Amino acid sequence: MYTAQDEKRLYEQAKSLIASTPENIEDAVAQLREVINFSDWKYYVQSEPLLSDYEYDTLFKKLKSLEEQYPEQVTEDSPTQRVAMGLSEKFPPVAHLVPMLSLDNTYNAEDLMDFDRKCKELAGTDKIEYCVEPKYDGASISLVYENGRMTRGATRGDGVMGEEITANIRQIKSIPLSANFQKDQVGQVEIRGEVVIHKNVFAAYNEQRIAEGLSPLANPRNAASGTLRILDPKEVAKRKLSAILYHISYYTTADNQRPATLTTHYDSIQYLYSLGFPTPAKEMRKFDNIEGVIQFCDDFEVRRDDLPFEVDGLVIKVNDFDMQDKMGMTTHHPRWAVAYKFKARQATSKLLDVEFQVGRTGAVTPVAKIEPVPIGGVTVRSISLFNEDVIREKDLRIGDTVVVERAGDVIPYIVKSLAELRTGEERPIAFPHSCPACREALEKNEEEAAWRCVNINCPVQVAERIIHYTSKDAMDIRGLGGANVIKFFELGLLKDIPGLYHIDWEAVSKLGGFGDKSITNLKQAIEHSKKQPLSRLIYGLGIRFVGETTAKTLANAVTHIRDFYDWDVEKLSTLEDIGPKVASSVAQFFHNEENRHMLDMLEKEGLNLVNQHKGGEQATGELAGKTFLFTGTLTKMKRSEAEAMAEAKGGSILSGVSSKLNYLVVGEDAGSKLEKAKKLGTVSILTEDEFLNLVNA
Ligand code: IVH
Repeated sequence: MYTAQDEKRLYEQAKSLIASTPENIEDAVAQLREVINFSDWKYYVQSEPLLSDYEYDTLFKKLKSLEEQYPEQVTEDSPTQRVAMGLSEKFPPVAHLVPMLSLDNTYNAEDLMDFDRKCKELAGTDKIEYCVEPKYDGASISLVYENGRMTRGATRGDGVMGEEITANIRQIKSIPLSANFQKDQVGQVEIRGEVVIHKNVFAAYNEQRIAEGLSPLANPRNAASGTLRILDPKEVAKRKLSAILYHISYYTTADNQRPATLTTHYDSIQYLYSLGFPTPAKEMRKFDNIEGVIQFCDDFEVRRDDLPFEVDGLVIKVNDFDMQDKMGMTTHHPRWAVAYKFKARQATSKLLDVEFQVGRTGAVTPVAKIEPVPIGGVTVRSISLFNEDVIREKDLRIGDTVVVERAGDVIPYIVKSLAELRTGEERPIAFPHSCPACREALEKNEEEAAWRCVNINCPVQVAERIIHYTSKDAMDIRGLGGANVIKFFELGLLKDIPGLYHIDWEAVSKLGGFGDKSITNLKQAIEHSKKQPLSRLIYGLGIRFVGETTAKTLANAVTHIRDFYDWDVEKLSTLEDIGPKVASSVAQFFHNEENRHMLDMLEKEGLNLVNQHKGGEQATGELAGKTFLFTGTLTKMKRSEAEAMAEAKGGSILSGVSSKLNYLVVGEDAGSKLEKAKKLGTVSILTEDEFLNLVNA
């Protein structure tokens, strides 16, 4: 584990390595590895980025180039060796050092009392300490470390034999490639855990799949286990998997004994954590009676969605290793552990109808209307079926009884239909041939699952494009909202994106529901959007396949958006992470006369079409280039007002504390952000008054 002093030293070491490289090559390589590993740990295990992407890349490139110049310096556990090398052909079978058993399940307090009774019987004592930790819903893996280096990663397989997936495991940045195990563990250490996908990563991935006309993956669990089996480690790296390790299953000391210092599960998890492994160290709790366990299970279930990844229950483990050994295992599960499963977020319902909706890109999405059913505290009424293929694959029919799942923040989906319950009255779902909004014939591209309306003036598409343009991550026109856009659009008060900048407010005020104050606020929000950076505008244009990251890449490549008029697919493809599909969509957009006309109109309205960081007009204002973050409860102004004040002077707002942050403005009851900023030592900490003085100076 890194101490506060280590953290400070390594942060300074990182800064100094960015500025200059030590002359002695061995020192340079060792120091670079140390800070990169530390930075990975901060980012992937602690979720607290230490360096900016640019700083991290600088260090990584330095290490890579030194290793290229001095190949004898390359080691297997160097962070550069995570970079995927070529394609693996298949995943050979490997025997686990210890069979990977499953867990017995419990569902309620009574089951847990039963478990407690059995444990007491087997252990021959009434005094049992239990550990409780989350049950992660992902794909289980086992890792082998030899002499401190990760030499093998494997899937569970049938529990005895797994598949060797070391190259893919190396792409999971939270898994250390080497670890400083205690001296007496000279040989092999086998560690068990779960590979998971953060819910937000999963959602973004599915969004991208849908944008590309592919069916989304059902849930993060399937996504994690599918990704581990991809044959191209480079692709695996892109999917940003995470891991949690929860069990040491094997270790070799000189006499093949457990190290004397590790006598409990709790300590072993804290120990792994101290070596840099991602473990449930922070979430796990100890109890000396089952009543405490039961209470914790009840409380935790309510908070299950607070974790960044899916958990489907808790695991209760007898803490003491000797006691575990005494209790033993069946062929299926250990007798000293049990899973407490949360209530399933599945239910059955009836498929009443299917509606077809046109989206911003013209894709027609079937939406199932079901008999309303409560799942996990939410009443589910409609569920996207994504595309025609999903309907065919699941053989869905109107009138079917369907199994519906809603996992955490994940959108609800239909798992399957129960064909055995059919009465013969069910009807097949007919996919339309014309656009439900404008009646134009739909078209389908061979490689895509989606049918599309290609009428660029299709009213629903236009309205959806305006909604996307105004959305939070695009031009962030606050207070307008989708419902108002549709209302204005239907009343002819808004026809296209440039139309946002000359809405007839007189007419709006007569609509009812809009007071003077809300109109003033709306006008201000629209005015404010004119200053948004180019990347937000490009994202807001809704070019197919262009998400926020691609929009940033594009914005950084030019000085004025019009520069793209001369770019062809080939030139666009030279940009990082822009493949032929994205490039051709971008080229098509900028070569289209109507789109060019729209950009001219936007420029006339006073929008920012230049990249302010690339030789175009510089951001203006006294605080140009300065970054701000607000924390705690502000008493003199609303947070949104404070942010707007900073932005009005050219400042920009960050979402977290990092070395990129210049000012942290602190209100009442400020917490971890303030601590972090103090620790970094590079951030100016301001009170509200000091902030007001700064912006009013
Ligand atoms: S302990 C002997 N702990 O749940 C060790 N398993 O349904 C047995 N799982 O196969 C496993 N979170 O893949 C353990 N904190 C946790 C877990 C966990 C998820 C998985 C594991 C196991 C499955 C059983």
